[in-house]
Amino acid sequence: MIKSSRTSLLRASRFITRPNNASAFIGSIRTKYSLPTLDYELDALEPHISGQINDLHYNKHHKTYVDNLNKSIEAAVEAKSKGEIKKLIALQKALNFNGGGYVNHCLWWKNLAPQSAGGGHKPSDDSPLGKQIIKQFGSVDKLIEITNGKLAGIQGSGWAFIVKNKENGGAIEVITTANQDTVSDVNLVPLIAIDAWEHAYYLQYQNVKADYFKALWNVINWKEAERRFEF
Ligand SMILES: [Fe+2]
Repeated sequence: MIKSSRTSLLRASRFITRPNNASAFIGSIRTKYSLPTLDYELDALEPHISGQINDLHYNKHHKTYVDNLNKSIEAAVEAKSKGEIKKLIALQKALNFNGGGYVNHCLWWKNLAPQSAGGGHKPSDDSPLGKQIIKQFGSVDKLIEITNGKLAGIQGSGWAFIVKNKENGGAIEVITTANQDTVSDVNLVPLIAIDAWEHAYYLQYQNVKADYFKALWNVINWKEAERRFEF
């Protein structure tokens, strides 16, 4: 079921900015965005993230962002062709929300891995990412503690990102965004994206989101973070 989607994460560009088949437009025919293919089964992150949550999160929530992003783009293309500037401006919020929802969740799924596939396995001290983390934070655990503090501080829905700042000598930073806002600064390379929306945890952790923030590090795909750190 989850292997059926056609899009491969981080394939056409570094951070999932293009629809299928690389080219956004072929003449007047535009290819559409679609759900990414997952590298694991939906229940493979248990007991830390339940299969039920992943099923709803992937097949309902992420799918909705995909569908609404495609609708927003179609509406924008039509508005542009008709010279409807006010409509184009009005569509920016929908493009930002659904485009961010699409990109953030693509990062999210790739940021996770079953423990049997290396999930939760922290970068070694002598890896480029491990060295940078130790230099700045002293340990991976300290970076996790700081990230969890930022996650706890998110009011309402949002995301936390561990990023590499290319403008600041490749320093690692932890930032948060509201709603589905994504990391749009081209100098910031998202290494890890963490979903702090209730739909990501409530069925399993109810109101105790601190337990979710603590548990998810058991299935974080640090290998993917190390790969992105090389960009
Ligand atoms: Fe989500």
